[in-house]
Amino acid sequence: MPRILCDNAALRNAWYAVTRSVDLGAAPVSITLLDTKVVLYRSAGKIVAAPDRCPHREAPLSEGHLANGCLVCPYHGWTYGAEGRCVRVPSSAEHIPVPPRAHLATYTTAEKYGLVWLCIGEPGPGARDIPVIPQEDDPKFRRINTPVDVWRSSATRMADNFLDISHFPFVHVGTFGLAQETEVPKVKLEELDSGWYGYKYEVRASNSALGTLASGQSTDVVDRAMSSGFHLPFDVRSTIAYSGGLEHILLLLSTPIDDVTSYFTFVVWRNDDFSVSAEEIIRFDLAIGAEDKRMLEKLDGVLPLDKTTLVNAQADKASVEWRRRLNEAMSA
Ligand code: FES
Ligand SMILES: [Fe+2]
Repeated sequence: MPRILCDNAALRNAWYAVTRSVDLGAAPVSITLLDTKVVLYRSAGKIVAAPDRCPHREAPLSEGHLANGCLVCPYHGWTYGAEGRCVRVPSSAEHIPVPPRAHLATYTTAEKYGLVWLCIGEPGPGARDIPVIPQEDDPKFRRINTPVDVWRSSATRMADNFLDISHFPFVHVGTFGLAQETEVPKVKLEELDSGWYGYKYEVRASNSALGTLASGQSTDVVDRAMSSGFHLPFDVRSTIAYSGGLEHILLLLSTPIDDVTSYFTFVVWRNDDFSVSAEEIIRFDLAIGAEDKRMLEKLDGVLPLDKTTLVNAQADKASVEWRRRLNEAMSA
C-alpha cells in the first residue's frame, strides 16, 4: 500500500473530523487516521484520544468498556481515566503505585460543528487549523450533522471531486445534474470569506421531488448561485443560495484512514424556517453523495499531485490550485 499521505508530517499535523460528538458516549470508539489506530473515550466530560494499544500487553483498548468514566482494558483490566492516566492495575495491591509508563500518550482533540476533531501530530502554528463556518454562530441558521461513512477512495480524490462542477451533468443525472449545461463558464479563483479559497458560479439544477425539499421551490428547474472553496488539506465548502434568500452551506470533510480509504461526513447549515425535518433535508444531499461515492470508488490510488501526470481543462482550475498548494504544504 502506498504511504504518500500516511507518512507525511504536514498531513499528520493537520486536524481531521473523525466521528460525530453524539457517537462518542457510553462506549469507547475505535478510529483509524493516517494508518494510526486510535481509541477515543470520554472521561470527566473531556475527550481522551490515545493509541489503541494498551501499554501493558498491547490489547486494543477500544475493545474494553467504560466504568465510572474510566476505560477498562479488556485483557487485564488496567483502567484509564481523564487525560489517559492509568488509575488502576487490578493485579497489584492498592497501595502499590501504578508504573509511571502505564499512562497513555494522548493526542490533541477538539469538538466543533457536532464533530470530534483529532490531530495525531503537532497542531499549532503552521499546522492546518479546523476550518471556519461563520453560520455556526448565526441563530438564523440551523446545523444538521450526518453519519460518518467510509469510502474506498483517497481523500485526495474526494476533495478534487468536491471542487469540480464539470461532473454534475454526468454523475448527478439522478439528482440535480440533468438541467445543467456541460460547458463551464470561465473559472475565476478568489479569496472567499472566512479563509476559504475558490470560485463562484451559477448552476441550473433539476428540481426533483427530493430536491424540492432542499430548494424550498416547486419549479422543475431552480437557479442556484454557488461557491466552492477549499481549506487544506482536504476540506471543501460548497455554498448554495436560492432566489428568495434561502442559503444552504455544505461542509464536505474527507479524512484519510489510509492513502486510499477515507471517512466522509458532511455538515449542513440552513437559514430555513425549520418546517421540513432535518432527515428530509439531507436525504437529497445523501443521494448526491452516493452518486459521487459510486464514481470515486471506481478510481484507484492517490490522485497524482504533480503538475504533469493529469490533463486539465479550464473547469479544473480550482482543483489545480488546491493540488498545487497541497503539494507545496506536503513538501515543506
Ligand atoms: S493488555 Fe491491557 S491490561 Fe493487559
Ligand atoms: Fe459530485
